[in-house]
Amino acid sequence: MQWGFRSRPRLRSEELEQVADWNLPQHLGIIMDGNGRWAKRRGLPRMAGHHAGMNAMKEAIRACDDCGISCVTLYAFSTENWKRPENEVEYLMKLPDQFFRSEMDELVQRGVRLKFIGETHRLPTYTQETVRLSLERTAHNTGMIVTFALNYGGRRDIVEATKRLLQDVEQGLLSVDDIDESAIAARLSTRELVDPDLIIRTSGELRLSNFLVWQSAYSELWFTDTLWPDFTKSDLLAALHAFHHRKRRFGDVK
Ligand code: IPE
Ligand code: IPE
Ligand code: MG
Repeated sequence: MQWGFRSRPRLRSEELEQVADWNLPQHLGIIMDGNGRWAKRRGLPRMAGHHAGMNAMKEAIRACDDCGISCVTLYAFSTENWKRPENEVEYLMKLPDQFFRSEMDELVQRGVRLKFIGETHRLPTYTQETVRLSLERTAHNTGMIVTFALNYGGRRDIVEATKRLLQDVEQGLLSVDDIDESAIAARLSTRELVDPDLIIRTSGELRLSNFLVWQSAYSELWFTDTLWPDFTKSDLLAALHAFHHRKRRFGDVK
């Protein structure tokens, strides 16, 4: 089952009223990049950038919900980010707890349903516990779906889907001739989500860095030089406005 389109934007301020007539992405992906550079520019340790990035994420989630986005996926930690210094990885692994401690009540009040994609079973036990509790608390919510890509890699996602596919073939649940795009999509971690219509990346880097590799085949991409901790509702509105004017053809000529 794929979660459907939310009825209509819940507008909470005049600034957001303009969004009501826009064609919004049903699923928005965000590659939240530039925390380290943000800190460096201020002569601060990288962790300060991650802390500021967490605050920007809180604002971004609020703004997405206010705009009426059905589903947002936030790239929080990649399968490649383990290469970073141990103290930075440790700090990043503790951020989910800090985040949910301060935000959970509001997320519940907004009816947000949380999801996680990525190999969360390989995270430190305390992070896994945060993941478990946050899933539990929001399991029955029916509002915006917020998915955290945590220890996520697009290629890993495809590898795991391939393994599941082969297991199903081995068990006689599927024949090789039945393997098509939907058979693969149905075994990806995002099987309950529609493909992202729009992917935002901050910090001026022009790449996907292993984010939703399969799912982004026809995503619109929007890049900004703004570093993630400086990302505000205005940046989100700029991205949504650009998306509204994109012509999506999916290979057709219309
Ligand atoms: C994004 O910011 C956060 C994570 C990847 C966890 P970075 O930490 O990559 O910041 P830069 O790219 O070094 O500035
Ligand atoms: C992508 O950012 C991962 C996240 C935002 C979590 P990176 O900073 O890790 O990507 P690269 O190394 O610049 O490609
Ligand atoms: Mg980076």
